Amino acid sequence: MEAASPQPFVFRRPALARGYADALLGVGPFDRTSGLFLAAPRRTGKTTFVKNDLGDELRARGVEVVYVDLWADRQRDPAALIADAIRGALRTLDGSVVRAARRAGLTKAGLGSWVSFDLDQIGAPDGPTLTDALRAVTERAGGPVALIIDEAQHALTTEAGADAMFALKAARDALGATDKGRRLLLVMTGSHRDKLAHLVLRRDQPFFGGEVSDLPRLGRDFSDAYTAWLNARLAEGNRFEPNGVWAAFTALGQRPELLRRELERAALSEAGAPALQVALADGARALRERIWEEFDGEFGGLSPLQQAILLRIAETAEGFAPFSSASLAAYAERNGAPVSASEAQAAIEVLRGRNLVWKSARGSYALEDQELGEWLRARTALPPGRNQ
Ligand SMILES: Nc1ncnc2c1ncn2[C@@H]1O[C@H](COP(=O)(O)OP(=O)(O)OP(=O)(O)O)[C@@H](O)[C@H]1O
Ligand SMILES: [Mg+2]
Repeated sequence: MEAASPQPFVFRRPALARGYADALLGVGPFDRTSGLFLAAPRRTGKTTFVKNDLGDELRARGVEVVYVDLWADRQRDPAALIADAIRGALRTLDGSVVRAARRAGLTKAGLGSWVSFDLDQIGAPDGPTLTDALRAVTERAGGPVALIIDEAQHALTTEAGADAMFALKAARDALGATDKGRRLLLVMTGSHRDKLAHLVLRRDQPFFGGEVSDLPRLGRDFSDAYTAWLNARLAEGNRFEPNGVWAAFTALGQRPELLRRELERAALSEAGAPALQVALADGARALRERIWEEFDGEFGGLSPLQQAILLRIAETAEGFAPFSSASLAAYAERNGAPVSASEAQAAIEVLRGRNLVWKSARGSYALEDQELGEWLRARTALPPGRNQ
């Protein structure tokens, strides 16, 4: 007989989800009825949280949840992915409406025009708009709809994607509210706070006036629960100590996957229980250093001007103006020679090509990897061009 594959450990955060659901529905102390923007670094559990915890909480409150990950297919335009997700929701809802109608003895014709809504044309120039489609979803669902857009900042890398974001804002306003709150609830996540901020900061950005919140990282309660879960499955004498696991988890930037890998390595090593703690501490420290060594190598391989640009982005964040006189002066200082705007432009292009710098379709910039920003800020005291 084949053994059942082990259930993975998933830590739930229902209280956090309740708070966000309250804010989205406008029933708590904090108002996010115009949109909830959640940022947290890569691999820290954003998708898991919004899909499972927040999704379940919203569904439990009668909200229809539509989820779309803009990184699901990097080749496709984000606007097309959003239209797909809404189309998928309509198909599912139509199916259940038709089934319910049949059960009630109605014929398909008796359902009226909304069954024949042209799904394939959603978002097409002459087709139904996103507002039309989302209105159809709320009508069929009989309640509010939450659209969860994972890695929402990615929408801003194409014109169509940016347009889709404006269309969603228009839909949110056009669909209006009932006495129980808005009909369209918007949740957007991003692994990069600065990039997500490009949706809300300026007047010409789709959700101007919105606020980006940091999704709290998994904490001590996660690491304790995970330790207990693991220990229940490990032989006596080969068990983890909660303080050690927590220390490792923080050293690993609170990334569950990295922790799992390190604990696995330790638990499956030949050494017994006493050596386990040592292996754990060493492994986590070494791993953290390995991540940072990569940045060391990458940064060291750049020209002084390229380094100067990265540092400037890290320092000024959302306020980064690539060719302002202050920026050019800052580059020149590190570069040891004057820098023209066209030289800076060329260097930025190299950095984009190396996936170090992200640029929106509207010409805003950010570091591609937030961890690189932390590393850079920790090292701003370094002399320029030390690879020379
Ligand atoms: N609550 C949790 N309990 C257990 N494991 C978790 C939890 N949250 C995340 N993980 C694990 O951590 C890893 C990253 O999770 P997830 O994909 O949700 O993070 P993310 O922040 O969305 O990552 P990305 O930046 O790649 O989008 C996955 O392997 C996932 O199984
Ligand atoms: Mg994710």
